[in-house]
Amino acid sequence: MNEFTNERMTEKFLFDQVSYTYEDGIRALRDVNLSIYPNEITTIFGPAGGGKSTLLRLLNRLNDLIPGRRLEGRVLLDGEDIYASGVDVHALRRRVGMVFATPVPLPMSIRQNLTYGPELAGARDRARLDELVESSLRAAALWDEVKDRLDEPGAALSGGQQQRLCLARTLALEPEAILLDEPTSGLDPISTAKVEASLQELKQRYTVVIVPHSVQQAARVADHAVFVLQGELVEEGSGEQLFTKPRDQRTEDYITGRFG
Ligand SMILES: Nc1ncnc2c1ncn2[C@@H]1O[C@H](COP(=O)(O)OP(=O)(O)OP(=O)(O)O)[C@@H](O)[C@H]1O
Ligand SMILES: [Mg+2]
Repeated sequence: MNEFTNERMTEKFLFDQVSYTYEDGIRALRDVNLSIYPNEITTIFGPAGGGKSTLLRLLNRLNDLIPGRRLEGRVLLDGEDIYASGVDVHALRRRVGMVFATPVPLPMSIRQNLTYGPELAGARDRARLDELVESSLRAAALWDEVKDRLDEPGAALSGGQQQRLCLARTLALEPEAILLDEPTSGLDPISTAKVEASLQELKQRYTVVIVPHSVQQAARVADHAVFVLQGELVEEGSGEQLFTKPRDQRTEDYITGRFG
């Protein structure tokens, strides 16, 4: 619970008493309870190995193929258990898009990078696809830089542009939520600022969950900040509260750089 709770919409995601163990018995998460709301940026931050990526990947079932994993508790999307039997995982992943640390454009043109997914999903209308190309590139803050070279290979873009292309590709599938796992860890400061600016736009329409690459980035972008340490959710709150008046000593020690 925090001070925002009363004004917020219904939660988009809910971790209900979630524990998660990998095959070798490593308990990556322990008794996590967390609500994630639409129209804000939630950052999940903390030291390496704490379980941040695991939390994120649970939201679109990216860990499904790992043998021997064990999930306890429930993960809900719009009130429905996404691990219940009969859930269509492909449909889930269209609703919940993911952007990774290393951008990997498809080996095709900028335009085709954006239309490939929608076409696979059945979109055929040219005008509609053109519109999707433009709107997703605009939302990813890349349109102005590439609008005159849409038929050049995606791989010809700079690293920072490739990452925004991958973000645009995720948006072209018109998801409801976007997960980003250290999306700017390999980027220069200018590209990083562009990605962060585009997140501010995206939250108007989507649920945005990001594992930031630094505490500073967490503080810059977080509406809702969640500090995770060794598989445990230590503290959550508004970004403003958590980064100025943390309640837990461990949070304070981490954000002031006493460990990490
Ligand atoms: N595929 C896997 N198989 C076995 N153990 C794993 C796997 N992925 C992660 N782990 C373990 O689970 C724990 C949490 O890992 P996770 O990747 O979620 O942490 P993280 O907070 O994202 O770390 P980082 O900041 O380094 O990305 C770690 O102990 C890690 O070694
Ligand atoms: Mg990680």
